[in-house]
Amino acid sequence: MSVASSHNHDSLQKNTTERYFEDKLVAQNYAIYRPPYPDSVFIASVNFLNSNATNEANKFPFAVDVGCGTGHQSTVPLAKYFDSVLGVDISKEQISEAEKSKHPENVNFKVSAGESLPVEDETVSLLQAATAAHWMNLDKFYKEADRVLTPGGVIALFSYSSGFQTLDHHHSAEINAILEEMEDRPYKRGFYAAGNCKLKRRYTDNCFLIPYTDTVRLNNIPQPVTATVEGFLGFYSNQSPFRRMKEAEPDLTAKWMEDVTTRLLNTLETTGMSSEFTYNLEVHMLLGRKPHQPK
Ligand SMILES: C[S@@+](CC[C@H](N)C(=O)[O-])C[C@H]1O[C@@H](n2cnc3c(N)ncnc32)[C@H](O)[C@@H]1O
Repeated sequence: MSVASSHNHDSLQKNTTERYFEDKLVAQNYAIYRPPYPDSVFIASVNFLNSNATNEANKFPFAVDVGCGTGHQSTVPLAKYFDSVLGVDISKEQISEAEKSKHPENVNFKVSAGESLPVEDETVSLLQAATAAHWMNLDKFYKEADRVLTPGGVIALFSYSSGFQTLDHHHSAEINAILEEMEDRPYKRGFYAAGNCKLKRRYTDNCFLIPYTDTVRLNNIPQPVTATVEGFLGFYSNQSPFRRMKEAEPDLTAKWMEDVTTRLLNTLETTGMSSEFTYNLEVHMLLGRKPHQPK
C-alpha cells in the first residue's frame, strides 16, 4: 500500500473533528455496520489491569469508554468485567443511538468530551478509547486520565488498522487488490484528516506515548470479520475519509463505487449483495498504568 507524504493530508483539518460523527444517519449506520472487536482486545486490558492488582474476583468497579460511538462495539463488551461502565461521546447523535440500543443495566452513556470527563477523581479502573484517541487532544486527555484513574488504573487505546485482507477465498489475491484500491482511494485523493493519518500510522506518533513508565504496545491482534457484501460496503462507505470524498466528488465517487462493486462481486463469483465473505482487520493497542505512588 502506498504511503504518500502525511504533511498534505495532515493539513486537511476541520475546526472540530467531532463534526465528522455528528450526523444522525452516520450514527445509525455505525450501529448497523461497524464490526465488533475481538474479545481478546478487552481481555488484554483486563489482564493488564489485573497483573498489578490484588483483585482476585477479576471484576473491577468502574470503566469509562471514551468516544464510545453507539456503544455496542466498545462499551458493552466491558460490562462483564466491571460493576459499572460509562460510555461517553462528544456527539449527541451517537449517544442518542447508544441509549436507544439494547444494553446491560450496568452500562450508561453520557455526552462528554474525553478531555473533560464527568467523573470523580481517582474512581476509574480502566479508561478506554476504541478507534477514538486519534480525534482527541492527547495532552489534555492524558492530564484528565491522570485525574480520574485510580492508582494502578489503566489507559487502553486501540484501533483497527486500515488494510482489509480477505481470508479463505480461492481468489484472495484479486479480491485483496480490489480492497486495497478501495482503502487507498480516499487517501490518495487527499481526503484523510489529521486523525485518519494518525490512525493509518497505527498510533506510532509521539503524541500517543502514554506518560507512565509501565506501558505495553500490542500489534497485529487479528480481527476476522464475516460480513455480507452489503455490510462490508456499508462499513466502508461510513468511514469519514470516504464520506468526505463522496461529498467533494459525488459523481466521480458514485461512478467508481458502481464499478468497484461490480468487480468485487464478479471476483467473489456472486451477484448477491447478501453473499458473505470473510476479511481480516488488525487491532493495534497501547496500554499504560498509572503508578501506585504519586509521580
Ligand atoms: C470512529 S468512532 C469509534 C466508536 C466506537 N468506540 C467504536 O470503536 O466503534 C470515534 C468516536 O469518537 C468520538 N469523538 C471524537 N472526538 C471526541 C472527543 N474529543 N471526545 C469524545 N469523543 C470524541 C466521535 O464522535 C465518534 O463517535
